Amino acid sequence: MNVNVMTHPLIQHKVTLIRNVETGSKDFRELLEEITLLMGYEITRDLPLEDVEVQTPLVKAIGKQIAGKKLGIIPILRAGLGMVSGLLELMPMAKVGHVGLYRDPETLKPVEYYCKLPSDLSDRRIIVTDPMLATGGSASAAITLLKEKGARDIQLMCLVAAPQGVEAVNKEHPDVRIYVAALDEDLNEHGYILPGLGDAGDRIFGTK
Ligand code: PRP
Ligand code: URA
Repeated sequence: MNVNVMTHPLIQHKVTLIRNVETGSKDFRELLEEITLLMGYEITRDLPLEDVEVQTPLVKAIGKQIAGKKLGIIPILRAGLGMVSGLLELMPMAKVGHVGLYRDPETLKPVEYYCKLPSDLSDRRIIVTDPMLATGGSASAAITLLKEKGARDIQLMCLVAAPQGVEAVNKEHPDVRIYVAALDEDLNEHGYILPGLGDAGDRIFGTK
């Protein structure tokens, strides 16, 4: 399996809190934002830098700034929305696109209902966000759509993944780097991740 599991103690601590069934929507949203910010710090570690001249109050100096590719954050609606604010804190210059998919409860297959993307996808590093990577159907479908629209440099960022979801995305999109805060054990008969955290969208937005 080709997946990066983020083992930073702060991330692991917060993942335990967010799994807890007693954690309400407000705390769930805050924890998700905090975890995303910590993960974002890690996944942008390899962004290229270039030299730039900066005038300090004393002298001219050479500093570093992010070079090259621009960034795009693409949440898979709805639950992926919960991971946008953490990334925007780090990268306020990123453009945000949206892909709307829901998983049919019977077939577990993704159904697309919305798509609005930045026009210059091929020039951007794209970070796809979705807290849950279960069967992998939704993430794979979203990535296929983004590639059809020109995206070439894609990272997938999830909170919790099942091995089946990682394998499915690895198989369909071997070029996509996957980052998760936790790699769980299995899926249940309804396609929910075990131990997981339940339905991420419902927990973020307080629906059921
Ligand atoms: C959840 C989750 C993922 C998908 C994961 O979304 O946020 O998008 O299921 O399952 P998969 O890997 O088996 O495709 P859901 O369809 O419940 O929609 P929601 O975000 O609107 O709640
Ligand atoms: N979608 C969720 O929100 N949770 C799961 O465990 C699986 C899919």
